[in-house]
Amino acid sequence: MLHTDEKICTHFGEDPSKTFGSVTPPIYQTSLFAFQSFKEFTEAQALERENYVYSRGVNPTVEVLEKKLAALERGEKCKCFGSGMGAISAVFFSLLKSGDHVLFINNIYGPTTQLAEHLQKFNISYSSIGHDLTSLDAAIQDNTKLIYVESPGTMLMNVLDLQAVARKAKEKGIITAIDNTWSTPLFQKPLTLGFDLSIHSLTKYIGGHSDVVGGAVIGSYDLVDKIFTYGYQLNGSVLSPNDAFLIIRGLRTLPIRLKQHQENALKVVEYLQTKEEIARIYHPSLEKNKPFLQKQMKGFTGLLSFELKQADFATVCRFIDGLSLFKIGVSWGGYESLVNAPVKANNEEALQEQGLSPGLIRLSIGLEGSEIQIQDLESAFQQL
Ligand SMILES: Cc1ncc(COP(=O)(O)O)c(C=O)c1O
Repeated sequence: MLHTDEKICTHFGEDPSKTFGSVTPPIYQTSLFAFQSFKEFTEAQALERENYVYSRGVNPTVEVLEKKLAALERGEKCKCFGSGMGAISAVFFSLLKSGDHVLFINNIYGPTTQLAEHLQKFNISYSSIGHDLTSLDAAIQDNTKLIYVESPGTMLMNVLDLQAVARKAKEKGIITAIDNTWSTPLFQKPLTLGFDLSIHSLTKYIGGHSDVVGGAVIGSYDLVDKIFTYGYQLNGSVLSPNDAFLIIRGLRTLPIRLKQHQENALKVVEYLQTKEEIARIYHPSLEKNKPFLQKQMKGFTGLLSFELKQADFATVCRFIDGLSLFKIGVSWGGYESLVNAPVKANNEEALQEQGLSPGLIRLSIGLEGSEIQIQDLESAFQQL
């Protein structure tokens, strides 16, 4: 039977006939699995990534989620982690060695570049280019081992031609990894475009309810195997069976939630376009001039940003404090609308050096309904 994404999110990877007909997978809340004989135990231990031995290895509840995510990404194998950063660190620690170079493309999530800075201690270097790929060739070094991208980025939502990046990397024998959290595998499947690894913070849309932290890496058996030993078992960023259960529950409604996030976000973008206080809006739905986009993305989620013309800390404070439905906080991708901004009391110049306007405001458009979201934004504009 054909596995549609909706079928994968709901039923795939589960077998109620083995669990008393239970329509939800049991939470195997156990740290270890006991064996009938010592011989059986030693055999299972010899291949720990295939057998239930210890929950800092393979756990049946977590495995259900891993099967679903691998299928959604059209990858061979998935490993889940205790957080998105756990997944990202696992990729870096498993695949890089002293002397290697990492090339970042596009605005990258801050802690990911912080991790790369830390790895300089181990003689692993990195450099970054923006989203314009004309400098890609020149940026690749003889020792570039990994090209790491975000598309869309999560501050200015810039999109990259992923097939072009993957093609160039393959020519040079470089591994490619993407943080695919913005799109989720429902709206973008980077492995089908030639990427080697797709990474997620499951904390965002996939969990979807702002009640769990988790991460995942999906790719070929070979690459995920390497990551299993060094990046997962030895780094130890484990997803608990309880959290896997919550994420499986989140996944069941992901298709329907994303439709609603998208519908609300498009209405909010339309509204923001009417506001003369705004200098620029960032959402991939506005990038109609990029011909690769239609082939690459099936939809748009609800994370967007815009720049106020009056770009200073005090104005941003006034706008944000004028909101009441949008909650002030980090993260994004949950059911609730959120607002955040990179500006602080004394960092306006530093932001400008990074190419970010001090008037930049980021919204995560939740599920409340565009009418009241727009009403709330309108009252904040009145505060200006
Ligand atoms: C784009 C992106 N990638 C990765 C992460 C890290 O995920 P986690 O917070 O689950 O470690 C985040 C968190 O905000 C993020 O925004």
